[in-house]
Amino acid sequence: MKYQMILAAAVAASFAMPALADGKALYMEKTCIACHGKDAKKPLTPEYPRLAGQNAKYAEKQMQDIKSGARANGNAAAMKGVMHLVSDEEIKELAKYLSEIK
Ligand code: HEC
Repeated sequence: MKYQMILAAAVAASFAMPALADGKALYMEKTCIACHGKDAKKPLTPEYPRLAGQNAKYAEKQMQDIKSGARANGNAAAMKGVMHLVSDEEIKELAKYLSEIK
């Protein structure tokens, strides 16, 4: 019984942890870090948004709109150039990662 509980906890942890690591890895790999800064806390210029702690649903929608061109205001064009690098699934992971940064 005790053994089963330990096993269940290990399985739960192995599912939960890669999800966070994936979002973080994507954030570095897909060039996001270049403009939005380390840990999404210090953007390249003061005109670029700080993303750490942003609401996941909102961030996901903004990324999709910038990718599709529906959002083309402000400096969105700067980011549109890299959005072909990320799929809808990756955008979801990224949004989740950003929302979880404290
Ligand atoms: C070339 C610079 C650049 C890169 C690379 C970039 N972004 Fe952006 N991003 C911006 C700018 C600039 C804005 C704000 C656009 C505006 O002024 O409306 C923005 C906006 C956003 C927003 C919406 C913020 C809000 O509060 O509305 C999110 C979320 C976001 N970026 C995530 C990402 C992710 C994730 C990546 C990597 C896949 C990425 N960005 C790559 C420059 C960049």
